Amino acid sequence: MDIKAVILAAGKGTRMKSETTPKVLHQIMGKTLLGYVLDSVKNFASEEFVIVGHHADKVEKFVKENYKCAKTVLQSPQLGTGHAVSMVCPELENYNGTVLILCGDTPLIKEKTLKKFVEFHQIQNSDITVMSTIFDNPANYGRIIRETDNSLKCIVEEKDATPEQKSVKEVNAGIYCLDWTKVKSAFGQLKSNNAQGEYYLTDIISWGKTQNLNVNAYILEDSSEIYGINSRINLAQAAKMMNKRNLEKYMENGVTIVDPDSTWISEDTIIGQDTIIYPATYIEGKNTIGKNCKIGPCAHLRGGVEVCDNVKVGNFVEVKKSKISSNTNVGHLSYIGDSELGEHVNIGAGTITANFNPLTNEKSRTILKDNVKIGSNSVLVAPVTIEEGANIGAGGIITKNIPSWALAITRTPLRIIADWVKIKLSK
Ligand code: UD1
Ligand code: MG
Repeated sequence: MDIKAVILAAGKGTRMKSETTPKVLHQIMGKTLLGYVLDSVKNFASEEFVIVGHHADKVEKFVKENYKCAKTVLQSPQLGTGHAVSMVCPELENYNGTVLILCGDTPLIKEKTLKKFVEFHQIQNSDITVMSTIFDNPANYGRIIRETDNSLKCIVEEKDATPEQKSVKEVNAGIYCLDWTKVKSAFGQLKSNNAQGEYYLTDIISWGKTQNLNVNAYILEDSSEIYGINSRINLAQAAKMMNKRNLEKYMENGVTIVDPDSTWISEDTIIGQDTIIYPATYIEGKNTIGKNCKIGPCAHLRGGVEVCDNVKVGNFVEVKKSKISSNTNVGHLSYIGDSELGEHVNIGAGTITANFNPLTNEKSRTILKDNVKIGSNSVLVAPVTIEEGANIGAGGIITKNIPSWALAITRTPLRIIADWVKIKLSK
């Protein structure tokens, strides 16, 4: 069965209090909220539509650069979640499959869960299926209101709910499956006579009932997956939940995490067995780390990093978009960016790859071939290549390529002036 996904990402996200960044482009461990949602559907939806509005240019740019298959559809002005979905109607005019609707602000949702949800929709022969879950503290979510026979009646938003309705703990996850042929006409009929004066997508439940459609709820057991981000407090909480989930996965796969409370690892990082991650390490974005590595304490991998087997990335080392080949050590206090390090390389403490030219705004690469040794406190000014086996003396400032097995020293010769201090003091 064909599935097309619609992701709502046009809202202002007022509660985030952000002037410059639309809510769905806020990040958790180097990936945007919208990126998580797009990744959760990209493997099984035949097409993805992202509804953009607030800061549309920024969201469009993000989608174009990172998710080439997804299309953006403009919603302007933004008159609510129901209005947002109506924007996609012209695109889906002749479509007669299933439409999966998600919100761009629920990054914890798993692909596996969405597949089960769609399967449930199909097995029930449902026309409209909404995902729900039970929250001890349901504040701010739409409440699922049921009839006395337990069938669905409607969804009531917090701002429209009576005290009795507010006490309901079953909430709307904001994820829906629709039989598009039967449901598309709803989007011309939603009303905005509610507390927020918006066209609510949630009203399709009661609309479906009036049309005698088959309307169902799929109750999700792990409620953490649909945690919605509306504020900075939610953002921090979601990051914690996601990190816990990631760390548990790595530990189950044979990675030692010495202190899970102070370690952050993104879900798009792959880590080999028997690697040890020491405390206060932060690993964001997409990275691969091999087997038997030692990372940290206090290391920062910023994405695009490939670390092969038996590598040490030690204290206060930052690595970005670089490959570190096997048996290489970057022990202490270094920055390795846009670089390629060969095997059996040793990087002395305080080494910097100077990859950025602030005059041209260009970044350049540093290449260190196998067996290169860099003395402490050196600066490798990119673009630069150090050929196999070459050594750089401590404090080297390297602005030219260095041939194989050579020694490069750039420091001024040491002078020792005998009794200099005594002479000064005696004056
Ligand atoms: C919504 C649901 C609520 C549900 C909750 C789950 C409605 C009316 N309410 O509430 O029942 O429990 O999600 O997280 O649907 N958006 C647009 N265009 C708009 C308005 C919003 O694209 O005009 C997008 C937002 O960018 C966001 C999503 O829709 O990604 C949800 O909007 P939000 O304002 O966060 O709704 P909630 O109050 O969380
Ligand atoms: Mg929300």
